Amino acid sequence: MQRIAFLRSADLQRADPYIHGIAPALARLGAQARLFHTHGEGGPGLFPGTSERLEPAATPDEFVERVLAWGADAAVAISLPDENALRDAVVKAKLEALGVRTVMTPLAATRVLCDKWETKRVLDAHGIATPPAVLLDSDLLNGRTLPVPAYRDAVRLAAQDLGYPLLAKPLWDSTSTGIEFLADPAALDRHLAARPAAHAVLEKCVGGRLCSVDIVGAGGHYTVMPLIRTGTAGGPPAFTFDDLRYVTPAGNDDFVPTARRLVDLCTHLGVEGSVNVDMIHADGVYHVLEINPRIGGATTLSIAATGLNTFVALLDILAGAWPTRAGAPAERFAIECLTANPTPALLAQLRARVDLVTCHDLIIDGHDHGGILTFTVDPGDERRTVKELTELCEQTGFIPASMLDKIRRVLTPGPTRERPSSRAGARPRTATG
Ligand SMILES: Nc1ncnc2c1ncn2[C@@H]1O[C@H](COP(=O)(O)OP(=O)(O)O)[C@@H](O)[C@H]1O
Ligand SMILES: [Mg+2]
Repeated sequence: MQRIAFLRSADLQRADPYIHGIAPALARLGAQARLFHTHGEGGPGLFPGTSERLEPAATPDEFVERVLAWGADAAVAISLPDENALRDAVVKAKLEALGVRTVMTPLAATRVLCDKWETKRVLDAHGIATPPAVLLDSDLLNGRTLPVPAYRDAVRLAAQDLGYPLLAKPLWDSTSTGIEFLADPAALDRHLAARPAAHAVLEKCVGGRLCSVDIVGAGGHYTVMPLIRTGTAGGPPAFTFDDLRYVTPAGNDDFVPTARRLVDLCTHLGVEGSVNVDMIHADGVYHVLEINPRIGGATTLSIAATGLNTFVALLDILAGAWPTRAGAPAERFAIECLTANPTPALLAQLRARVDLVTCHDLIIDGHDHGGILTFTVDPGDERRTVKELTELCEQTGFIPASMLDKIRRVLTPGPTRERPSSRAGARPRTATG
């Protein structure tokens, strides 16, 4: 029986429930799977196969050794964030040199996409809008190499040309970590005086709607998943999951030209698997902020809205059975927001009242961000869902009132609606209902 190794860093719970969708695909392939993971639990309830734990700091060679020791015929990378995607790309290079086919974007492209400055350069080269920026070299800034006394002034003048406000964004990292909002030249001076440790892009701050899209495929055949609204941009960045995140079945025709260029870029880079693109939509233009060379925080919503399971797609790519299909339209609403940490009682209520995808604790790098709820709404079921959620919030306050209001506006847009007598406070309380 064929053996397929899944490489994973980041808690597997974020892949729930869709990772279970690979079970029938494995059966069709006559294959068994084993999870090689560095974080969280494995176990049959979480992964449809066996699992092996590695240290979070495990090297690519350690991964290769363990995967080979198991006797894997093939591997599939499903790690995040970027530093783990890079590890998977190195593992792919080493495994494939030994004849073990691995579904992952090749190392050369992964290196480009992990680095926000390199990404900007390929975006520019492919005619895809991205906010103007300059590279902030922390070695030159801190005199670690050649002394360049004029470097600070060179940066100040470049910043003046870009125009304020600006954001200083470390080339690597994710979920907005380390990004600093610079309102004016004095803020830039403070930033430079603090001797930032890492290289960064100094980027024009763009006001608009934040959105994200997953693109899945290989070898020139890519499927663009639906556009996901993830919040608003224009000031200091918020934590990635803070705002309401949602897909509507309406479609976004104005995104088509950008989507086409992004697919051309994926073809050029040889993307294999999934990428996740973060953008700001402003004045009719999609400004690309970054391309994550991996599945992302939006993958659950993409799958929920379309029914196209990215994890199964990775197996299809492995099997050479990936179809040419340009787009995967959203067939339903898919909505995600932070909540109080879910209790079994709350989960039971959610299952009874909404089309629940998942509600679990959101743990990133050991930090508990509360609960995260993902649910879908079929067209025609919007009002009932709003009513159910409103009642549940009145009982438990598990979603803040402001967030419930946003959900209501997405599902039942219109000028006048009855405001419920919600007692839900501004902050989530521990759910008891
Ligand atoms: N040029 C920009 N203008 C306005 N906001 C930005 C800009 N770049 C980043 N942001 C904010 O910072 C967040 C994170 O930026 P992103 O480039 O996606 O980095 P990462 O997700 O890797 O931390 C965005 O979601 C947005 O809120
Ligand atoms: Mg991002």
